Amino acid sequence: TPDRTLVIVKPDGVARGLTGEVLRRVEAKGYRVVRLEMRRATPDELARHYAEHEGKPFYQPLVDFMLSGPVVLAVVEGHGVVPGFRSLAGATDPTAAAPGTIRGDLGRDWGLKVQQNIVHGSDSAESAARETAIWFGADA
Ligand code: CMP
Repeated sequence: TPDRTLVIVKPDGVARGLTGEVLRRVEAKGYRVVRLEMRRATPDELARHYAEHEGKPFYQPLVDFMLSGPVVLAVVEGHGVVPGFRSLAGATDPTAAAPGTIRGDLGRDWGLKVQQNIVHGSDSAESAARETAIWFGADA
């Protein structure tokens, strides 16, 4: 069975009109979008999603940023999609991210307290299952 990952187009990506471009790259790679939703994140969802970062200096700015506008949530399917989407996204720091990647081509450092790096992608199959349950419910 194909693997699944949870992709989030963050508020900067949505505000800049990059949702279509992100989904285009996902689909052009050959992955399949199987769930898709645009809405505002809730504080509870973010506390659960970013639990591992609680206490880090960028945690609260990150949560505030994620609450600043709507996000687009997508469950994406395909063999190897967890590392595959991380590869499409590029390095966390958009300044360091290689050209050819979403962050390398479309992102930059805005001099803010948090990396506004357009997209999130799960870092493991376990994270993908955990995150998909947070955003879409246990039945997703
Ligand atoms: P993501 O990998 O989706 O999940 C954690 C997020 O925290 C990351 O994207 C960035 O947006 C942000 N982040 C990670 N590391 C840092 C850092 N050192 N400084 C600021 N923001 C960070």
